[in-house]
Amino acid sequence: MSIPETQQAVIITAAGGPEVLQVTTQPVPKPGPSQVLIKVSAAGVNRHDCNQRTSGPAYGGSPIPGLEVSGQIVAAGNEVNEARGGETVCALVQGGGYAEYVVADSALALSAPERLNPIEAAAIPEALFTAWYNFFTLMKLQKDEYALIHGGTSGVGHLALQAMSALGYRVIATSGTDEKCAAALKFGAAAAFSYKDPELAQKVKDATNGQGIGALLDMSAGAHVATDFEMMAPGGRIVHLSGGGGKALTLPLRQVMAKQLWVSGSLLRPLAQARKAVIAEQLREEVWPLLGRAVRPTISHEYSLNEAASAHREMEKNSHIGKIMLVPAS
Ligand SMILES: NC(=O)c1ccc[n+]([C@@H]2O[C@H](COP(=O)([O-])OP(=O)(O)OC[C@H]3O[C@@H](n4cnc5c(N)ncnc54)[C@H](OP(=O)(O)O)[C@@H]3O)[C@@H](O)[C@H]2O)c1
Repeated sequence: MSIPETQQAVIITAAGGPEVLQVTTQPVPKPGPSQVLIKVSAAGVNRHDCNQRTSGPAYGGSPIPGLEVSGQIVAAGNEVNEARGGETVCALVQGGGYAEYVVADSALALSAPERLNPIEAAAIPEALFTAWYNFFTLMKLQKDEYALIHGGTSGVGHLALQAMSALGYRVIATSGTDEKCAAALKFGAAAAFSYKDPELAQKVKDATNGQGIGALLDMSAGAHVATDFEMMAPGGRIVHLSGGGGKALTLPLRQVMAKQLWVSGSLLRPLAQARKAVIAEQLREEVWPLLGRAVRPTISHEYSLNEAASAHREMEKNSHIGKIMLVPAS
């Protein structure tokens, strides 16, 4: 396949609202020794991309947003197995996904699951890498514990619920509306509650037969700290995914001590490539066989690259369930 010198890509032209996203002509990137060049079939839109946009083009390395894609390998560096040429993959990338071509580390470009279409395949990397790393690598969730996800119908949450329930874990979800709670139950949540419910901690305790939560994934920027601490089981672990613009949290130390709780946070993007490659291997082994069977992303809406601003507007309205996707013209 001949590879053009230039491509159409969305760039963040300035810090600001969705209107700062503009399609421009950019060079097609060249793969490094351990990288592949992917002709993009679809790219996922993540909340991170909206945060990157409001921070401006210099934030995060590439002015082209986009952390996950699907597509075909059309070129590769000299350390990559030649047999990968032409392979259909889905990949976690370090930015650059809102484009016709993007480079990915070869180890983070997994064979696209055959039972998913290209748009569905592009919707899975960021969510599954995030869920796996936080629940299993960091929080070491056990099957005799309960997990909880604040934001059960988010891109991350709805795929985590499906994968974890299919693997035999009991996960409770919270959401902002009744419609989203009902959707979370369909995704496999053992129970789903409004995160606005003043009785949330008691309802969660009841749903776990008094056991409480062993591992909690929180994307609410610390909106529920007091409730979280109340509903955690002794020895429970909490990971924060959203920094809420750098705000500080006040922790009830007495409860941290009495329950021996563990509170942390994580960022997937700056994680070392070698650690991401370990997650990729574990996902390939444990979750890939479930894709298109028990686990399938819900696609809320598809947009062209020219409509990237509309995609960000939809995400910031917060009415979507599942994933918002971009599809370059073929
Ligand atoms: N640190 C990392 O490595 C990492 C990796 C991936 C994602 N993330 C973060 O994880 C979150 C999800 O990402 P996404 O792309 O999947 O975004 P998304 O689909 O837009 O989801 C955002 C979610 O946050 C939930 N939420 C907002 N305010 C909340 C509150 N006060 N209490 C409970 N939940 C609340 C929303 O719940 P409702 O819709 O029900 O209101 C929604 O489910 C984002 O904050 C993103 O930045 C972090």
